[in-house]
Amino acid sequence: MALTPAAPLPRFPAGFLWGAATSAYQVEGAAAEDGRTASIWDTFCRTPGKVFQGHTGEVAVDHYHRFREDVRLMAELGLTAYRFSVSWPRVQPTGRGPAVQQGLDFYRRLADELLAAGITPVATLYHWDLPQELESAGGWPGRSTAERFAEYAALVGEALGDRIGHWSTLNEPWCSAFLGYGSGVHAPGRTDPVAALRAAHHLNLGHGRAVTALRGVLPATARLSVALNLHALRPLTGSAADQDAVRRIDAVGNRVFLGPMLEGAYPEDLLADTAHLTDWAFVRPGDHKEIHQPLDWLGVNYYTPTVVSGTPEGAAPAREDGHGGGTASPWPGADQVGFHRAPGERTAMGWAVDPTGLHQLLTGLAHRHPELPLMVTENGAAYHDEVGEDGGVDDPERTAYLHAHLAAIHRAAADGADVRGYFAWSLLDNFEWAYGYEKRFGLVHVDHSTLTRTPKSSARWYAGVARSGELHPPVGL
Ligand code: FCB
Repeated sequence: MALTPAAPLPRFPAGFLWGAATSAYQVEGAAAEDGRTASIWDTFCRTPGKVFQGHTGEVAVDHYHRFREDVRLMAELGLTAYRFSVSWPRVQPTGRGPAVQQGLDFYRRLADELLAAGITPVATLYHWDLPQELESAGGWPGRSTAERFAEYAALVGEALGDRIGHWSTLNEPWCSAFLGYGSGVHAPGRTDPVAALRAAHHLNLGHGRAVTALRGVLPATARLSVALNLHALRPLTGSAADQDAVRRIDAVGNRVFLGPMLEGAYPEDLLADTAHLTDWAFVRPGDHKEIHQPLDWLGVNYYTPTVVSGTPEGAAPAREDGHGGGTASPWPGADQVGFHRAPGERTAMGWAVDPTGLHQLLTGLAHRHPELPLMVTENGAAYHDEVGEDGGVDDPERTAYLHAHLAAIHRAAADGADVRGYFAWSLLDNFEWAYGYEKRFGLVHVDHSTLTRTPKSSARWYAGVARSGELHPPVGL
């Protein structure tokens, strides 16, 4: 029998960033050290019933003290980039005034450690941990928070711009606005659709002003971006009503940020869909111009597709829109839309595994914004990982998930998407917001009582891909 020669393995270009991601509140701990004050997540965690079993990020995985060990692990895993976030209440505790040096020093040391290990630092300025004092003064629904954010961005950029070349302003502003102020399943836990829309606008404004502030203090070589959790939408059926549900959720889930950030205006259909709630008078003349700043790359976070219908009847009671249950809707102006379980295998979050959604997002963006480089800034899966008798953690489902999504990125690149990097969520098992420590997304297992780190088998597999640039199939596939 003649053997057919094996097809060459998909290969990623030299210089492609192979990373893993974390965020400050989810990993740092040291919540009351070196001048850090409470963020909205500290407050939310202390509010009974908000977070699984009352878990908090007070200790998290103690990355603040163990970052050297964690960078060593990254180096062992062949990572070439690390995406982390800067904690606003650690560097500017009240959200205004001068920076706290100890806070900045932590990120200086972290960046230095990374650079010494040949790992590119990629910093996000805001991954949901608003200083509580700014929330008490009105939070993101208030316009002054956008101003505060630009000031904070300038402080951090000035202090760290000599070491960090890749920056994102916000992580997933959709979650900040619509889970934080709409459904209330995230901090600060408000359930007011108009506050959510106001928050979305002020996050957009904060983004634009932060980009301008950063350009003023960073070297010309700095590469600026924002990371969005874009929804890969599917109609339940081909009916006109289901197609319209896709349009509506695309407006309030995706184009509410893509429109002003990349094209200079809110979509007309979004304004019409929400006209019964607000006249959008909080958008002032000149805001669009401030928000619409040139970006050097766009971060895309993707986990699972979103299936919608034009009528709520028959829809799954569990929300298919991300994190946690909650009874209020995170979708202003979309009360008639039903959310459905996407078919296929599920992760421990209940999210369907479907890499075609990632291909859909990347090729869609490439089509509309051909000049804009892309990075997949988050992608990954939670599973019920356990330490085996041999002390190892075998997680073949996660390896299969990562493999399938990297293959989708490779296909998207062949179809014209300019994808420059990939960041697995997450480097370590960590504090998964309203789910506490119950959900494990890490490439590296963390024993939450001893904080011992153990790379899972997916981490070993990923290391092989990162080292070779070739997408090896997982054993058994
Ligand atoms: C994203 C968040 C990240 C993590 C993953 C699972 O929405 O940005 O912090 O919670 O989901």
